[in-house]
Amino acid sequence: MAVISAERLSSTVGAEVIGVDVDRLLHDETLPAWTLEVLEAHGALVFRGLHVDDATQVAFSKRLGRVEVFGRGENPEIFRVTLDPTKNPVAEYLKGTFDWHIDGCTDDVPIMATILSARAVAASGGETEFASTYGAFDALSEQEQERCLSLRVVHSLEAAQRLRNNNPSPEELTLWRGRPSKEHPLVWTHASGRRSLVLGATTSHIVGMDVDEGRAVLDDLLARATTPGRVYQHHWDVGDMVIWDNRGVLHRASPYDAGSARDMHRTTLHGDEVIQ
Ligand code: OGA
Ligand code: MN
Repeated sequence: MAVISAERLSSTVGAEVIGVDVDRLLHDETLPAWTLEVLEAHGALVFRGLHVDDATQVAFSKRLGRVEVFGRGENPEIFRVTLDPTKNPVAEYLKGTFDWHIDGCTDDVPIMATILSARAVAASGGETEFASTYGAFDALSEQEQERCLSLRVVHSLEAAQRLRNNNPSPEELTLWRGRPSKEHPLVWTHASGRRSLVLGATTSHIVGMDVDEGRAVLDDLLARATTPGRVYQHHWDVGDMVIWDNRGVLHRASPYDAGSARDMHRTTLHGDEVIQ
């Protein structure tokens, strides 16, 4: 059998997995442990042209960890990432995917990893971009690292939604504020000993710092983390599958038209580490 390998897609984040087919996704005994290891090393893994169906995607996801359940029906683990409200009733919120973010930053334990498979792609836009938050911490000067280690940040759904809709109705505000905000350290010291920055659209303010001053610090760190030379941009073809390590990357979708047929089927792996 062909050897499975991971080939870097950029100098800081992303690798393409070569040598895996649907049979191996489902049955290769060494694949799950290998996948989790290279995922942690590269941040995002691209499997081109797999054309998985929902049952296969869910089965593979379950081989990697605990899979979250969203809905009902035959494959309740599948969440559809689409701006079409007839396919996803919360499509409006998904415009938030256009800003750099880490999934689940307002939860106690953010998710471990996300798997998307492309069922339909946008005619223009709709690439998914990744940037390493480990790399972002490592690239800071020692002095900046020390400073960041002393800071804590409040994350909220409101902060993220305001980037797309800064003039919310009272109903929208009530809805957003219904989701409790969450305070995290700016630097996540992982069980592995590696450190990453916890940044992105959900950042509201730095605890104990003037709001504008804190905003300037967060915006500067995010801009440096996501500077084009540190980003891998995935151009989707129907049938591609991508996994990202939500503990160590920021991600976003390039804007695409709300009327676009773009349809990603997503499975979500439950978090295994609190941010500390
Ligand atoms: C997500 C997400 C990006 C995309 O599913 O969490 O941010 O490109 N998706 O659809
Ligand atoms: Mn996301």
